[in-house]
Amino acid sequence: MSDISLPYSKANPFLATIKERYSLCRTGSKKNTQHIVLDLKGSGISYQVGDSIGVFPVNDPALISRTLQAMKATGAEKVTNRHTGEQVLLYDLLEKKVDVTDVTRKLLSELAQRQSNPQKKEKLESLIAEGNRDALKDFQAHHEVWDTLLEHHEVIFTPQEICNLLLPLLPRFYSIASSMNAVGEEVHLTVALLAYEANGHARRGVCTHYLCALAPMDQPVVPIYIQPHHGFTVPTDPSASLIMIGPGTGIAPFRAFMQERIQRQDPGRNWLFFGEWTGSHEFFYEEYWRALEQSGKLRLDLAFSRDQDYKIYVQHRMLEHGEELFQWLESGSYIFVCGDAHRMAKDVEAALHKIVQEHGKMDEASAKEYVKRLRADKRYVRDVY
Ligand SMILES: Cc1cc2nc3c(=O)[nH]c(=O)nc-3n(C[C@H](O)[C@H](O)[C@H](O)COP(=O)(O)OP(=O)(O)OC[C@H]3O[C@@H](n4cnc5c(N)ncnc54)[C@H](O)[C@@H]3O)c2cc1C
Ligand SMILES: NC(=O)c1ccc[n+]([C@@H]2O[C@H](COP(=O)([O-])OP(=O)(O)OC[C@H]3O[C@@H](n4cnc5c(N)ncnc54)[C@H](OP(=O)(O)O)[C@@H]3O)[C@@H](O)[C@H]2O)c1
Repeated sequence: MSDISLPYSKANPFLATIKERYSLCRTGSKKNTQHIVLDLKGSGISYQVGDSIGVFPVNDPALISRTLQAMKATGAEKVTNRHTGEQVLLYDLLEKKVDVTDVTRKLLSELAQRQSNPQKKEKLESLIAEGNRDALKDFQAHHEVWDTLLEHHEVIFTPQEICNLLLPLLPRFYSIASSMNAVGEEVHLTVALLAYEANGHARRGVCTHYLCALAPMDQPVVPIYIQPHHGFTVPTDPSASLIMIGPGTGIAPFRAFMQERIQRQDPGRNWLFFGEWTGSHEFFYEEYWRALEQSGKLRLDLAFSRDQDYKIYVQHRMLEHGEELFQWLESGSYIFVCGDAHRMAKDVEAALHKIVQEHGKMDEASAKEYVKRLRADKRYVRDVY
């Protein structure tokens, strides 16, 4: 595990400076994934390859303004932060301390109690009823605090009452895409700006919007701390072979792994599976991977899902090279997976089982046992989210 340099921590984050920020997608891409370089100079912070950082975001002023309007407040009101007991200005609380995007069940329940319009009351009561989790989830996915309040403008709350019904604004995590041995006192990140539409409004992810657009450059304002890895790091054995599966932003830690291995001059073999939408627009860090490939330090397999009219994903490339992949595992290779937990990580694991079963000539149960053993031996390690 990492050696975190005190005194900076989650309770006392360091204010990092964004010194570089640019899109990793080519002009015309419908994605916006950015490379962000944070300056750590003077912090004394150190991190290891495989660590993540926690970032405390700041809410968008436009969102705060909409929330204040819906609260019928100005922002200059004094309120108590129920999570800390501190007295603060309402604006400051909405900016940095509370989550104004996620609608809590508690807020809906309080609205239901106070709503005098019978149809609206009934709708709210049905949303929070036991056994109606899907409807509640759907409502929450499509609403923020401000539009929920506007839909129930008949209900009068004091600003303090509303603040008491909100969750604290939590830090978000980002895999570190650099090795300190290669970049010094910097942290590099690969951040996918989250942007979507809900309830007829354009929505943005709080922290990705903050990091990719709102946070000013060249000013020490981004509160961060190191979140140490739990075994997701480059093996100490320099001759170990690595298989790295990192589609999308899952690529981030593997840039760090490779920087570290090159710096240490590790002779071990490296095999990267990367996937994104198109080779022309979303091939993140293309020059870096190509240079490593050309110098014989990396084997690269690519899966661009939208370069043809059917999907090609990283697990399809793994299956295509299943025999060799199994040979790598048999000769002691490690396998790392990073990125989307909901779909990708499950499908990659299913592909791994299939490869072991087919090329290890095992039945299903033995293949499962083989993968289980890899995991227990810490040779199959995942960092998925
Ligand atoms: C260990 C770890 C490492 C990570 N590393 C990285 C990384 O390297 N790079 C990276 O970009 N991210 C990474 N993440 C994810 C990151 O922490 C954030 O979750 C992500 O950036 C979104 O944060 P946000 O504040 O912008 O979005 P939020 O404001 O928190 O919004 C996210 C929510 O938006 C909603 N949502 C999303 N899409 C839609 C949609 N289409 N329709 C309706 N609702 C939707 C969902 O409810 C989702 O939970 C990592 C997470 C973990 C746990
Ligand atoms: N909640 C959601 O619905 C949702 C949707 C997307 C991303 N996310 C989250 O958004 C963040 C950023 O995502 P990202 O930019 O890193 O990219 P990503 O959405 O993970 O996509 C990267 C690549 O993986 C492909 N992919 C999709 N499903 C896959 C599967 N089952 N197996 C393997 N590959 C698959 C994508 O293809 P295609 O897109 O062409 O299918 C794309 O080529 C992550 O936290 C992710 O979990 C959430």
